Amino acid sequence: MQQILIDCDPGHDDIIAILVALAHQDQIEILGFTTVAGNQTVDKVTNNLLKVLDYLGLRYDVAKGARQPLRRPLEVQPLAHGESGMDGPLLPEAKSHPLAISAVEYLRHKLLNSTNKVTLVALGPLTNIALLLTLHPEVRPKIEKIAIMGGSLDSGNILPRAEFNIYHDPEAAKIVFSSGIRIIMSGLEVCYSGSVTHDRLEIFNNDHKVSRLVYELMDFFSQYSKQRNINSSPIFDMTVIIHLLKPEIFKSKLYYIDVETEGALCRGMTVAEKRESLPFDRLNTEVLLSVDNKEFVDYFIESIQSLDKTSL
Ligand code: BDR
Ligand code: CA
Repeated sequence: MQQILIDCDPGHDDIIAILVALAHQDQIEILGFTTVAGNQTVDKVTNNLLKVLDYLGLRYDVAKGARQPLRRPLEVQPLAHGESGMDGPLLPEAKSHPLAISAVEYLRHKLLNSTNKVTLVALGPLTNIALLLTLHPEVRPKIEKIAIMGGSLDSGNILPRAEFNIYHDPEAAKIVFSSGIRIIMSGLEVCYSGSVTHDRLEIFNNDHKVSRLVYELMDFFSQYSKQRNINSSPIFDMTVIIHLLKPEIFKSKLYYIDVETEGALCRGMTVAEKRESLPFDRLNTEVLLSVDNKEFVDYFIESIQSLDKTSL
Protein backbone atom coordinates (compact mmCIF):
# COMPACT_ATOMS: atom_id res chain seq x y z
CA MET A 1 0.00 0.00 0.00
CA GLN A 2 1.42 3.38 -0.99
CA GLN A 3 0.79 6.21 1.47
CA ILE A 4 0.56 9.68 -0.01
CA LEU A 5 0.09 13.27 1.05
CA ILE A 6 -1.45 15.44 -1.67
CA ASP A 7 -0.42 19.08 -2.02
CA CYS A 8 -2.73 20.78 -4.51
CA ASP A 9 -4.42 23.93 -5.86
CA PRO A 10 -7.85 22.71 -7.09
CA GLY A 11 -8.21 23.29 -9.92
CA HIS A 12 -10.28 21.06 -12.24
CA ASP A 13 -7.51 18.57 -12.95
CA ASP A 14 -6.42 18.48 -9.29
CA ILE A 15 -9.90 17.29 -8.36
CA ILE A 16 -9.96 14.65 -11.09
CA ALA A 17 -6.54 13.41 -9.94
CA ILE A 18 -7.88 13.10 -6.40
CA LEU A 19 -10.95 11.20 -7.64
CA VAL A 20 -8.78 8.68 -9.45
CA ALA A 21 -6.72 8.16 -6.27
CA LEU A 22 -9.95 7.66 -4.29
CA ALA A 23 -11.02 5.00 -6.76
CA HIS A 24 -7.99 2.87 -5.84
CA GLN A 25 -7.91 2.87 -2.07
CA ASP A 26 -6.73 -0.74 -2.16
CA GLN A 27 -3.44 0.56 -3.61
CA ILE A 28 -3.17 4.11 -2.31
CA GLU A 29 -3.92 5.56 1.09
CA ILE A 30 -4.39 9.33 1.13
CA LEU A 31 -3.13 10.54 4.52
CA GLY A 32 -4.33 14.11 4.01
CA PHE A 33 -4.32 17.19 1.83
CA THR A 34 -2.49 20.49 1.84
CA THR A 35 -3.31 23.44 -0.38
CA VAL A 36 -1.21 26.09 -2.05
CA ALA A 37 -1.89 29.28 -3.99
CA GLY A 38 -1.59 28.72 -7.73
CA ASN A 39 -4.61 28.32 -9.95
CA GLN A 40 -6.35 30.74 -7.62
CA THR A 41 -5.79 32.22 -4.15
CA VAL A 42 -5.17 29.71 -1.42
CA ASP A 43 -8.52 30.58 0.18
CA LYS A 44 -10.38 29.78 -3.04
CA VAL A 45 -8.57 26.54 -3.83
CA THR A 46 -8.96 25.34 -0.24
CA ASN A 47 -12.66 26.11 -0.42
CA ASN A 48 -12.94 24.19 -3.70
CA LEU A 49 -11.35 21.11 -2.15
CA LEU A 50 -13.58 21.27 0.94
CA LYS A 51 -16.68 21.66 -1.25
CA VAL A 52 -15.81 18.55 -3.25
CA LEU A 53 -15.01 16.48 -0.15
CA ASP A 54 -18.33 17.56 1.41
CA TYR A 55 -20.20 16.76 -1.82
CA LEU A 56 -18.70 13.25 -1.75
CA GLY A 57 -19.40 12.86 1.98
CA LEU A 58 -15.69 12.41 2.74
CA ARG A 59 -13.72 13.53 5.79
CA TYR A 60 -10.01 14.17 5.28
CA ASP A 61 -7.52 16.51 6.88
CA VAL A 62 -7.09 19.69 4.82
CA ALA A 63 -4.34 22.12 5.85
CA LYS A 64 -4.07 25.47 4.14
CA GLY A 65 -0.64 26.49 2.86
CA ALA A 66 1.29 29.27 1.20
CA ARG A 67 -0.56 32.40 0.09
CA GLN A 68 2.08 33.34 -2.47
CA PRO A 69 5.33 32.12 -3.98
CA LEU A 70 8.54 32.35 -1.93
CA ARG A 71 9.78 35.56 -3.51
CA ARG A 72 7.20 36.71 -6.02
CA PRO A 73 3.69 38.08 -6.15
CA LEU A 74 0.77 35.75 -6.77
CA GLU A 75 -0.28 35.24 -10.43
CA VAL A 76 -3.44 33.16 -10.67
CA GLN A 77 -4.89 31.33 -13.70
CA PRO A 78 -8.48 32.55 -14.36
CA LEU A 79 -8.19 31.76 -18.06
CA ALA A 80 -7.90 28.02 -17.48
CA HIS A 81 -9.77 27.61 -14.18
CA GLY A 82 -12.12 30.60 -13.88
CA GLU A 83 -12.53 33.15 -11.10
CA SER A 84 -13.28 30.51 -8.47
CA GLY A 85 -10.38 28.31 -9.56
CA MET A 86 -12.92 25.57 -10.26
CA ASP A 87 -15.63 27.18 -12.38
CA GLY A 88 -18.30 24.89 -13.80
CA PRO A 89 -19.88 22.63 -11.17
CA LEU A 90 -22.29 24.43 -8.85
CA LEU A 91 -21.66 22.69 -5.54
CA PRO A 92 -23.15 23.71 -2.17
CA GLU A 93 -20.96 25.85 0.06
CA ALA A 94 -18.45 23.89 2.14
CA LYS A 95 -19.51 23.09 5.70
CA SER A 96 -16.18 21.63 6.77
CA HIS A 97 -13.11 23.71 7.56
CA PRO A 98 -9.37 23.49 7.13
CA LEU A 99 -7.24 22.47 10.11
CA ALA A 100 -5.92 25.14 12.43
CA ILE A 101 -2.27 24.34 11.58
CA SER A 102 -0.46 25.40 8.43
CA ALA A 103 0.29 23.05 5.55
CA VAL A 104 4.00 22.97 6.35
CA GLU A 105 3.45 22.12 10.01
CA TYR A 106 0.86 19.53 9.04
CA LEU A 107 3.23 17.85 6.56
CA ARG A 108 6.00 17.82 9.16
CA HIS A 109 3.70 16.27 11.75
CA LYS A 110 2.34 13.58 9.40
CA LEU A 111 5.77 12.64 8.09
CA LEU A 112 7.49 12.46 11.46
CA ASN A 113 4.65 10.37 12.88
CA SER A 114 4.49 7.94 10.00
CA THR A 115 6.05 4.52 10.46
CA ASN A 116 6.38 4.09 6.68
CA LYS A 117 7.95 6.29 4.07
CA VAL A 118 5.38 8.56 2.41
CA THR A 119 5.13 9.85 -1.18
CA LEU A 120 4.51 13.57 -1.54
CA VAL A 121 2.24 14.25 -4.50
CA ALA A 122 2.64 17.85 -5.70
CA LEU A 123 -0.14 19.05 -8.03
CA GLY A 124 0.47 22.78 -7.73
CA PRO A 125 3.37 25.22 -7.32
CA LEU A 126 6.08 23.79 -5.04
CA THR A 127 6.00 26.53 -2.38
CA ASN A 128 4.81 24.36 0.53
CA ILE A 129 7.19 21.52 -0.26
CA ALA A 130 10.18 23.87 -0.56
CA LEU A 131 9.31 25.47 2.77
CA LEU A 132 8.95 22.05 4.37
CA LEU A 133 12.37 20.87 3.15
CA THR A 134 14.03 24.13 4.16
CA LEU A 135 12.44 24.60 7.58
CA HIS A 136 12.24 20.93 8.60
CA PRO A 137 15.03 18.93 6.96
CA GLU A 138 14.47 16.21 9.60
CA VAL A 139 11.48 14.98 7.53
CA ARG A 140 13.64 13.99 4.57
CA PRO A 141 14.25 10.36 5.60
CA LYS A 142 10.46 9.90 5.79
CA ILE A 143 9.87 10.92 2.17
CA GLU A 144 9.76 8.02 -0.28
CA LYS A 145 9.69 10.31 -3.31
CA ILE A 146 8.13 13.51 -4.60
CA ALA A 147 5.80 13.00 -7.57
CA ILE A 148 5.33 16.32 -9.32
CA MET A 149 3.03 17.64 -12.01
CA GLY A 150 5.18 20.36 -13.45
CA GLY A 151 7.85 21.31 -15.90
CA SER A 152 8.60 20.07 -19.39
CA LEU A 153 11.50 18.94 -21.53
CA ASP A 154 10.85 21.26 -24.47
CA SER A 155 7.39 22.78 -24.35
CA GLY A 156 5.50 25.37 -22.34
CA ASN A 157 1.97 26.41 -21.46
CA ILE A 158 2.49 29.73 -19.69
CA LEU A 159 5.66 30.75 -21.57
CA PRO A 160 7.04 29.10 -24.70
CA ARG A 161 9.33 26.91 -22.56
CA ALA A 162 7.75 27.01 -19.10
CA GLU A 163 4.93 25.14 -17.40
CA PHE A 164 2.64 26.99 -14.99
CA ASN A 165 3.38 25.24 -11.66
CA ILE A 166 7.13 25.71 -12.01
CA TYR A 167 6.83 29.19 -13.53
CA HIS A 168 4.64 30.29 -10.63
CA ASP A 169 7.32 29.61 -8.01
CA PRO A 170 10.62 28.80 -9.71
CA GLU A 171 12.68 29.41 -6.56
CA ALA A 172 10.64 26.79 -4.73
CA ALA A 173 10.98 24.37 -7.63
CA LYS A 174 14.75 24.83 -7.64
CA ILE A 175 14.91 23.90 -3.95
CA VAL A 176 12.83 20.78 -4.54
CA PHE A 177 14.68 19.56 -7.65
CA SER A 178 18.05 20.07 -5.95
CA SER A 179 16.97 18.40 -2.69
CA GLY A 180 18.49 15.01 -3.48
CA ILE A 181 15.13 13.36 -2.81
CA ARG A 182 13.87 11.06 -5.58
CA ILE A 183 11.71 13.09 -7.99
CA ILE A 184 9.24 11.87 -10.57
CA MET A 185 8.30 14.62 -13.00
CA SER A 186 5.06 14.46 -14.94
CA GLY A 187 5.78 17.31 -17.30
CA LEU A 188 3.79 18.69 -20.18
CA GLU A 189 4.92 16.10 -22.72
CA VAL A 190 3.53 13.10 -20.86
CA CYS A 191 0.39 15.01 -19.89
CA TYR A 192 -0.31 15.88 -23.52
CA SER A 193 0.30 12.29 -24.57
CA GLY A 194 -2.53 11.30 -22.20
CA SER A 195 -4.99 13.89 -23.57
CA VAL A 196 -8.62 12.81 -23.57
CA THR A 197 -10.66 13.43 -26.72
CA HIS A 198 -13.79 15.42 -25.97
CA ASP A 199 -16.13 12.81 -27.43
CA ARG A 200 -14.98 10.30 -24.78
CA LEU A 201 -15.98 12.70 -22.01
CA GLU A 202 -19.63 12.30 -23.06
CA ILE A 203 -19.67 9.01 -21.15
CA PHE A 204 -19.83 11.08 -17.95
CA ASN A 205 -22.95 12.93 -19.05
CA ASN A 206 -25.26 11.05 -16.69
CA ASP A 207 -26.77 11.43 -13.22
CA HIS A 208 -24.23 9.42 -11.23
CA LYS A 209 -22.66 11.62 -8.61
CA VAL A 210 -18.98 11.33 -9.51
CA SER A 211 -19.49 11.14 -13.28
CA ARG A 212 -21.63 14.28 -13.12
CA LEU A 213 -18.91 16.14 -11.25
CA VAL A 214 -16.24 15.06 -13.76
CA TYR A 215 -18.50 15.98 -16.66
CA GLU A 216 -19.10 19.47 -15.32
CA LEU A 217 -15.44 19.99 -14.45
CA MET A 218 -14.35 18.95 -17.94
CA ASP A 219 -17.13 20.90 -19.62
CA PHE A 220 -15.45 24.04 -18.30
CA PHE A 221 -11.82 22.90 -18.45
CA SER A 222 -12.08 21.68 -22.07
CA GLN A 223 -13.21 25.13 -23.25
CA TYR A 224 -9.58 26.15 -23.34
CA SER A 225 -8.79 23.52 -26.00
CA LYS A 226 -12.12 23.85 -27.82
CA GLN A 227 -11.58 27.58 -28.33
CA ARG A 228 -8.31 26.68 -30.02
CA ASN A 229 -9.94 24.02 -32.22
CA ILE A 230 -8.18 21.18 -30.43
CA ASN A 231 -10.34 18.08 -30.02
CA SER A 232 -8.78 16.78 -26.79
CA SER A 233 -7.67 18.08 -23.40
CA PRO A 234 -4.86 17.08 -21.08
CA ILE A 235 -5.90 16.40 -17.47
CA PHE A 236 -2.45 17.34 -16.23
CA ASP A 237 -2.53 16.44 -12.54
CA MET A 238 -4.21 13.09 -13.10
CA THR A 239 -1.04 11.86 -14.83
CA VAL A 240 0.86 11.85 -11.53
CA ILE A 241 -1.72 9.63 -9.85
CA ILE A 242 -2.13 7.21 -12.73
CA HIS A 243 1.64 6.79 -12.84
CA LEU A 244 1.63 5.77 -9.15
CA LEU A 245 -1.05 3.21 -9.92
CA LYS A 246 -0.03 1.89 -13.33
CA PRO A 247 3.63 2.73 -14.03
CA GLU A 248 3.93 0.04 -16.68
CA ILE A 249 1.99 2.08 -19.26
CA PHE A 250 4.52 4.95 -19.13
CA LYS A 251 7.91 5.54 -20.75
CA SER A 252 10.45 7.50 -18.73
CA LYS A 253 14.10 8.53 -18.65
CA LEU A 254 16.44 9.76 -15.93
CA TYR A 255 17.72 13.31 -16.31
CA TYR A 256 19.52 15.93 -14.30
CA ILE A 257 16.98 18.74 -14.08
CA ASP A 258 17.61 22.28 -12.87
CA VAL A 259 15.23 25.22 -12.85
CA GLU A 260 15.76 28.60 -14.52
CA THR A 261 14.78 31.32 -12.07
CA GLU A 262 16.24 34.43 -13.70
CA GLY A 263 15.61 34.39 -17.44
CA ALA A 264 13.14 36.89 -18.87
CA LEU A 265 12.22 34.45 -21.62
CA CYS A 266 12.67 31.21 -19.74
CA ARG A 267 11.61 31.82 -16.13
CA GLY A 268 10.41 28.52 -14.74
CA MET A 269 11.93 26.38 -17.44
CA THR A 270 13.01 22.94 -16.23
CA VAL A 271 16.34 22.53 -17.97
CA ALA A 272 17.29 18.92 -18.70
CA GLU A 273 20.96 18.05 -19.07
CA LYS A 274 20.93 16.00 -22.25
CA ARG A 275 24.65 15.35 -22.56
CA GLU A 276 25.07 11.65 -21.91
CA SER A 277 28.39 12.12 -20.08
CA LEU A 278 26.82 13.08 -16.74
CA PRO A 279 27.56 10.60 -13.91
CA PHE A 280 24.55 8.40 -13.12
CA ASP A 281 24.35 9.61 -9.52
CA ARG A 282 23.73 13.18 -10.69
CA LEU A 283 20.53 12.23 -12.51
CA ASN A 284 18.03 13.64 -10.02
CA THR A 285 14.72 13.19 -11.82
CA GLU A 286 12.75 10.44 -13.49
CA VAL A 287 11.01 12.34 -16.29
CA LEU A 288 7.88 10.69 -17.64
CA LEU A 289 8.06 10.99 -21.42
CA SER A 290 4.84 9.47 -22.72
CA VAL A 291 1.98 7.16 -21.88
CA ASP A 292 -0.08 4.67 -23.84
CA ASN A 293 -3.05 6.91 -24.58
CA LYS A 294 -5.67 4.18 -24.86
CA GLU A 295 -4.65 2.43 -21.64
CA PHE A 296 -4.48 5.77 -19.84
CA VAL A 297 -7.87 7.06 -20.94
CA ASP A 298 -9.58 3.69 -20.39
CA TYR A 299 -8.12 3.56 -16.87
CA PHE A 300 -9.36 7.09 -16.13
CA ILE A 301 -12.88 6.26 -17.30
CA GLU A 302 -12.99 2.95 -15.42
CA SER A 303 -11.74 4.64 -12.25
CA ILE A 304 -14.48 7.27 -12.31
CA GLN A 305 -17.15 4.71 -13.15
CA SER A 306 -16.00 2.49 -10.28
CA LEU A 307 -16.45 5.40 -7.86
CA ASP A 308 -20.02 5.82 -9.10
CA LYS A 309 -20.70 2.24 -8.02
CA THR A 310 -19.32 2.63 -4.48
CA SER A 311 -20.84 4.83 -1.84
CA LEU A 312 -17.35 6.20 -1.05
C1 BDR B 1 -0.82 22.75 -14.05
O1 BDR B 1 -1.27 24.08 -13.82
C2 BDR B 1 -2.62 24.08 -13.44
O2 BDR B 1 -3.35 24.81 -14.34
C3 BDR B 1 -3.08 22.65 -13.38
O3 BDR B 1 -3.88 22.40 -12.23
C4 BDR B 1 -1.83 21.83 -13.39
O4 BDR B 1 -1.40 21.53 -12.08
C5 BDR B 1 -0.66 22.54 -15.56
O5 BDR B 1 0.29 23.39 -16.07
CA1 CA C 1 -2.86 21.82 -10.16
